[in-house]
Amino acid sequence: MALSAQEKKQRVAAAALGYLRDDMVLGVGTGSTVNALIDQLGPWKTRLRGAVSSSEGSTARLRALGIPVFDLNEVPDLGVYIDGADEANPRRELIKGGGAALTREKIIAAAAHTFICIVDDTKLVDTLGQFPLPVEVIPMARELVARQLVALGGRPVWRAGITTDNGNQILDVHGLRISEPRALESAINQLAGVVTVGLFAARPADLLIVGTDSGTRTI
Ligand code: 5RP
Repeated sequence: MALSAQEKKQRVAAAALGYLRDDMVLGVGTGSTVNALIDQLGPWKTRLRGAVSSSEGSTARLRALGIPVFDLNEVPDLGVYIDGADEANPRRELIKGGGAALTREKIIAAAAHTFICIVDDTKLVDTLGQFPLPVEVIPMARELVARQLVALGGRPVWRAGITTDNGNQILDVHGLRISEPRALESAINQLAGVVTVGLFAARPADLLIVGTDSGTRTI
């Protein structure tokens, strides 16, 4: 039986709950798949010590449930981070940032011992780049960075009207076929004015839980 995308999100979120442990601080990402996870955290609210969150939106949802949200600076040791993605390949390299939270997501992924990515099977691709690659930029550098992204072979489009939680802007880069994710991540990160590129290849997910019509599978 074919499941809806929402049902698959609920399934992968439920599977991710299996990695929670009593008294842990949980890293929590951003987006509709993570919202499906937060919606299932009720029974955990007294068992978790708390959470660190990658966006104001997730923070508000966690606090509404009664889960304390800590600043990452207060958490010396983060065990598990759970987040969604816009695209994932079989090497667990990701495109993230469709929800504009990529910078905080990359910071929390870097801090976590185990990064668990939860996606439905529509997000799984052989080659990253069909989903436009988000790049967070300092506002004054937007056009400068855009010209350099064109030189790298992309077609950047300003996500007008969106300001990130960090006060910056987003360029979505269309038309890339990303055969070497680590190299492109490094090249874009080095452009002056770029805060973060939404390629997660230098630090890929450790586990990728994929929701399918027949259940979940873990890569
Ligand atoms: C937010 C993200 C999200 O993880 C990504 O956009 C996936 O979102 P959704 O679960 O709604 O499909 O990177 O910046």
